[in-house]
Amino acid sequence: MASSLEQSPVVSPVAGEPVRNAALSRPRSRLAASRWPARLDLLQSLSGLLLALFLIAHMFFVSSILISPQAFHTVARFFEGAAFLAEPRPWIVSCVVGVVMALFILHAWLALRKFPASFRQYRIFVEHREQLRHSDTGLWWIQLWTGFALFFLASVHLFGMLTQPALIGPYESADRIWTGNMWPIYLLLLFAVEIHGSIGLYRLALKWGWLQGADPLAARRRLRIARTCFSLFFLGLGLVTLLAYVQLGIAHADRAGERYVPHKAGAKLARQSPAGGLEFALSRRPGE
Ligand code: HEM
Repeated sequence: MASSLEQSPVVSPVAGEPVRNAALSRPRSRLAASRWPARLDLLQSLSGLLLALFLIAHMFFVSSILISPQAFHTVARFFEGAAFLAEPRPWIVSCVVGVVMALFILHAWLALRKFPASFRQYRIFVEHREQLRHSDTGLWWIQLWTGFALFFLASVHLFGMLTQPALIGPYESADRIWTGNMWPIYLLLLFAVEIHGSIGLYRLALKWGWLQGADPLAARRRLRIARTCFSLFFLGLGLVTLLAYVQLGIAHADRAGERYVPHKAGAKLARQSPAGGLEFALSRRPGE
């Protein structure tokens, strides 16, 4: 097949004449085609980096529940545009989720190129891994499995955030996690994403030569320490945060479904009429 293609005359698209220097033009087109794996690799690194940066910020926003329910409520309403619009608009959150989802799908699709495509390829990789006993090859293996788990776990979470953006708040989130039985998914998601993310950032730094000094071995050692610290910090923060949501969910279980109302708005109405304040606190959100 290849040889018959090579023997057929190449016709100039302009003049309809055979191109004399076809042998020269062929390597150039092959060169252009061969750039794609590198471009896709760059895109995968970039999408992974953006997702990692998003997740670092996300963990801090979500952990504002550790300060107080009011702090998390303020953060949630901020992302609905409360600071610059007359009323919070939950669809803004849906738009942000849409962008994150697109990035997530792109990153997963690019990663699929490197997944073993058959059981035979899988066996070959396992054999090589066992023979090499190289820690960074083992890391790639962990990334493959955590990435596979994230495909399902993160999809469930993102779909929930996309379709119910208004149900993000201290009571709303705590009820979803405890009464809505989402905590096992969040626990698995937390481990999968922190392990995947820290290994991903470590591999990115190695691949693109970030934070490299004169001694490559010392640089690799430093990066390993940074990776472990990163994992431990975000796993710790995530676990404490999840525990806070679970505790709030347990405390709020008999009133599950009730929305959180900031103290100020509730207190103001309670001052005007204690009964009215209670009704407001139990049934409405500010601005509604
Ligand atoms: C724009 C997109 C996202 C939004 C708006 C969002 C929002 C939230 C919110 C409000 C919570 C608190 C629990 C709840 O209300 O259900 C939460 C928890 C969590 N999210 Fe996201 N999230 C997003 C994307 C992601 C992604 C892409 C991942 C990982 C791949 C992720 C991983 C987690 C984890 C692990 C928790 C549990 C937090 C903890 O244990 O500290 N989220 N997220």
